Amino acid sequence: MKIIMLGAPGAGKGTQAKMIAEKYSIPHISTGDIFRANIKNGTELGMEAKKYMDAGQLVPDELTVKILLDRVAADDCKNGYVLDGFPRTIPQAEVLENALNELGDKIDYAIDVDVPDENIINRMSGRRACVTCGATYHVVHIPPKTEGVCDKCGSELILRDDDKPETVKNRLDVYHKQTQPLIDFYNKREILKEVDGTVDSSEVFKAIVAILG
Ligand code: AP5
Ligand code: MG
Ligand code: ZN
Repeated sequence: MKIIMLGAPGAGKGTQAKMIAEKYSIPHISTGDIFRANIKNGTELGMEAKKYMDAGQLVPDELTVKILLDRVAADDCKNGYVLDGFPRTIPQAEVLENALNELGDKIDYAIDVDVPDENIINRMSGRRACVTCGATYHVVHIPPKTEGVCDKCGSELILRDDDKPETVKNRLDVYHKQTQPLIDFYNKREILKEVDGTVDSSEVFKAIVAILG
């Protein structure tokens, strides 16, 4: 099963993608997590990506597409995957579609987690992320068992550099201009499914499981 998660920054794509990956035993692939791991390790790719990410802009397609295509070609992707944060532009979606076409393959579902902009800023300022394993929490909605410590691996939780309110506003603008057109792209391919992302994350997950079966 090959799944794409669509939705604004902070809609809960990562939160849901992790639950999907666990339930259906497929890898969760987040381009944002890949970039953040590269930033943490000080790679050349990380340094390049950081310039765009800190400004709330998209990392150029040339950099992003190659990483993603390499990742989905790995052995653990044979039975499918859930993509979180890719594609984010029409050209990215076209590259992915063409690459899958060549293998006689396709995406099964594009799930749009719908949350209005008003809810987003508040969510982002409360988000805490684990730098080691990528787990995400919210200080009010989804708190860790011990404040500031990851439940899964015990590492420290941080506020992401791009979660400052000014940057979140830029990310929302970029989302509306460059990423939202993908909703129509996947609707035309008849694989678009919408879920209400404003309800409790366990309720969002139930709606997704009802779609995936
Ligand atoms: P990325 O890491 O993908 O960030 P994003 O799309 O901005 O999305 P987020 O991770 O911020 O939000 P999310 O939807 O995953 O929400 P989450 O589950 O954490 O990308 C970062 C940057 O990398 C981009 O800006 C860009 O520069 C670059 N990049 C990445 N991919 C790229 C690409 N393909 N092309 C070009 N550039 C790329 O939830 C948010 C918060 O809400 C959490 O605190 C969570 O606990 C809480 N929450 C979740 N669900 C609920 C709920 N139902 N109710 C209440 N709270 C909830
Ligand atoms: Mg995310
Ligand atoms: Zn962790």
